[in-house]
Amino acid sequence: MKKTEIYAHRGFSKIAPENTMAAFQEAIQAGADGIELDVHLTRDGEIVVMHDETIDRTTDGTGWIKDLTLGEICEHSAGSWFGSKFVQERVPTLAEVLELLESTSLWLNIELKNNIIRYPRLEEKVLKEVDRFGFQKRVILSSFNHFSLHHLHSVRPHFPLGVLYECNLIDPWDYAIQLGASSIHPFFPTLDEEIVRRSHEAGIAIRPFTVDDPIYQKILFEWGIDALITNDPSAAQGVREQV
Ligand code: G3P
Ligand code: CA
Repeated sequence: MKKTEIYAHRGFSKIAPENTMAAFQEAIQAGADGIELDVHLTRDGEIVVMHDETIDRTTDGTGWIKDLTLGEICEHSAGSWFGSKFVQERVPTLAEVLELLESTSLWLNIELKNNIIRYPRLEEKVLKEVDRFGFQKRVILSSFNHFSLHHLHSVRPHFPLGVLYECNLIDPWDYAIQLGASSIHPFFPTLDEEIVRRSHEAGIAIRPFTVDDPIYQKILFEWGIDALITNDPSAAQGVREQV
């Protein structure tokens, strides 16, 4: 069986502020196979890496990303909320992360956060950035917005797409195929061994999120999932070694 890959969720977010360059650097250092991150569009059309739609929780500023320019967002610390040693961290652009990963072989799972805010042409802008850095062979685009995945499939038919979902879907492998996706990215408690087996029979990869409990990590490794998305890629590697 192929070894399950380990993706650092928002970077190594257990030990560094999520979705910052510090968290991505820690993930590389820890030997993660991939990184998962979230993207939004600023008022001036820049792609920034952040989980929430507002900067309130993970910076010392306030406001909606869509209403702020990149310059305004970068005035704020993206790390002080996590600890004083991260005060210099700024909200990264997608380009900065792609540049960081250029000298590595890590996978990058870019989650388009376009469920509450429908950012104009986010899909095209992300694809353009992936193309600019030549990352077509090691990027997976995912979203909870399945209209967005459908749109991505129509503009770039063979690009690897991951269907994010939180509650049980009937025959998720069929749903993924209908959407033109190559993988499912389920909330891990919705999975069972049969879904893993039938998805694989249908040629669909499985990358559940966000799995930090070693008890569940072990089961998922044994089922042969393709990648495990976790906040602590170091601990997950320890569990994987024992399976
Ligand atoms: O991509 C997997 C996972 O990150 C989705 O949930 O809320 O952590 O972005 P969330
Ligand atoms: Ca995410």
